[in-house]
Amino acid sequence: MSGAPILEVERIGRIYRRGGIFGGKPFYAVDDVSFTLPETPKVFSIVGESGSGKTTLARMVLRLVEPTDGTIRLMGRPLTGTSKERIDNLEFRRLVQPIFQNPFEAFSAYLPIGTYLIRTALNLKIARSEAEAVEAADAALRSVGLSYERIRGKYIRQFSGGELQRISVARALIPNPKLIVADEPVSMVDASLRMSIVNLFRQIVEEKGVSFIYITHDLSTAYYLSDHVAIMNAGRVVEQGAPGDILAYPSEAYTRELMAAIPTIGARWTELDEIDRHYAHERTRDGKSADKHHQEHS
Ligand SMILES: Nc1ncnc2c1ncn2[C@@H]1O[C@H](COP(=O)(O)OP(=O)(O)O)[C@@H](O)[C@H]1O
Ligand SMILES: [Mg+2]
Repeated sequence: MSGAPILEVERIGRIYRRGGIFGGKPFYAVDDVSFTLPETPKVFSIVGESGSGKTTLARMVLRLVEPTDGTIRLMGRPLTGTSKERIDNLEFRRLVQPIFQNPFEAFSAYLPIGTYLIRTALNLKIARSEAEAVEAADAALRSVGLSYERIRGKYIRQFSGGELQRISVARALIPNPKLIVADEPVSMVDASLRMSIVNLFRQIVEEKGVSFIYITHDLSTAYYLSDHVAIMNAGRVVEQGAPGDILAYPSEAYTRELMAAIPTIGARWTELDEIDRHYAHERTRDGKSADKHHQEHS
């Protein structure tokens, strides 16, 4: 299936009921979302405030939640449904790996953390024996600046959040995945260590050819890290494009609100920028969106 995009998300949706299973009006937690990750490794960021549907979207891509609408294809093959082409669980878990928000919840406090890495290597049949699993874990740990020797026998309380998140990344790398879905991976990490994790992601993309879906409520790390940004609001992707374009010419008031939360960018956002943005839109967008823009401002 060479030449197929890594991931094609086509008009997916997920309905939930507000207020639990009993009663409550159904609503779309994710509503008609489409995007594509090309074959060449890239970082695709999904940015939105809390409750905008980011985790639901991530869980559908991770095949942990079944979409109620639409289709997802991984390297040209459907993730859901009953077709013969559907990727089986083992193959799927080798290709797509998660990194979660809270590394203290990802790993139990009662097991040495190395156990998880060994378990991953054995479960995914990357290793046939414990010795091979340790080797696979060590190789993965070395690519995040650690080693098996340094974590051997240790429990999560003996690590900082930043170190634990590095170990989460190592765990995800064990099967040499094609895609990592990282849901707010640095929001629990100390601010001083955040950039080192974000830089690690970039390094993995370049050196290991892994694509990333990077989910965050923080537009500044998304801007720094990603090749493509999708802005989510109330279950929908309200705009997407190259991060530079989105920050320079956000077409949505919602995006500007997210930008205002970034001190350096928010402070630079002036009346003059607003005027530049207005005319730039008229020049660069097709007639239809220029009209829409006029209506919003009249
Ligand atoms: N299992 C569920 N049952 C009912 N509602 C849910 C469930 N999961 C998420 N939601 C709702 O869907 C919306 C989107 O949630 P989520 O995907 O977690 O957003 P985000 O990750 O952007 O904060 C929220 O209103 C949330 O309460
Ligand atoms: Mg979330």
